[in-house]
Amino acid sequence: MSGGENAACRAVDTVAAWENVRWRLSWAAMGEIVISERLVEALTADRVRVVVLTGAGISAESGIPTFRSAGGWWKSYRPEDLATPEAFARDPKTVWEWYEHRRRIVGAAKPNSGHYELARWERHFEKFTLITQNVDGLHRRAGSTQPLELHGNIGLSICHRCRQSKENAGLGPDGSIPCCECGGLVRPAVVWFGEPLPPQTLQLAWDASERADAFLSVGTSSIVQPAADLARIAKQAGALLVEINPEETEMSYHFDEVLRGSAGVVLPAIGRRLGIKPDDHSLSDQVTESAGNHED
Ligand code: OAD
Repeated sequence: MSGGENAACRAVDTVAAWENVRWRLSWAAMGEIVISERLVEALTADRVRVVVLTGAGISAESGIPTFRSAGGWWKSYRPEDLATPEAFARDPKTVWEWYEHRRRIVGAAKPNSGHYELARWERHFEKFTLITQNVDGLHRRAGSTQPLELHGNIGLSICHRCRQSKENAGLGPDGSIPCCECGGLVRPAVVWFGEPLPPQTLQLAWDASERADAFLSVGTSSIVQPAADLARIAKQAGALLVEINPEETEMSYHFDEVLRGSAGVVLPAIGRRLGIKPDDHSLSDQVTESAGNHED
């Protein structure tokens, strides 16, 4: 095939690809989010099983950096230096310093309207599972009672050797690493690259995804396994797959519906379309200083 033909084919492919993407994108004039009838029907079906998987993007509007978007941690640091068992064995102080820094950011952050909306969804839907890759604990602080925290919780600590939980452990003021009675070093209770996810939590997430009627992937680049696989599992099981993300991801083309917008705007827009009313509790907690609180 000649170069000219290649270019023509590419052009046709591009037009076809754009048309394909266009009908799935739910943009509206004036930046308003349009929720499709198909999504509304799916979410209002009798005894619908809804699964939501969240990633760092949902907490971006609370002022917590993501990993891979602009300003994300992995734009300035290498995961292999900070988020692996090898890095901890090599240089536990640097690893702890990074996590202490992140703990301070998380401690100063507040849940935003995306977190609060999902807490309402837990109360609204009879069958609802919230799965998160985030370690910031903001879903619980917004009122979600049972988020499946696939990657652990940055506020907690465990012994790296015997896995015993440790209360209030952290880097000493003199930079000393906290130690366990067993002699092991204490570390943040998060999952690092190369480590298995908590098996029970993963199993629950897997089971829920297999049974989902609607699976919403919110604020994740969908590239870290096994979390990214959950959408695929749900799709195989026949779920309607929805991506909520202001940016395209490598997985976008797998989704049935793509809502291009921030979680703090799109999730409440879906909630409003479904008639899920903000309750007093969540309203009172919704004021944060972040730009992402668009509850109205
Ligand atoms: P990433 O940083 O990879 O992706 C964040 C996604 O959020 C990007 O696709 C952004 O476009 C999107 N985003 C940014 N702002 C948003 C907003 N306001 N609303 C909605 N979406 C927004 O974060 P994760 O996919 O969560 O694991 O990363 C997965 C895992 O990789 C993390 O749990 C962490 C990381 O390395 C470990 O540390 C083990």
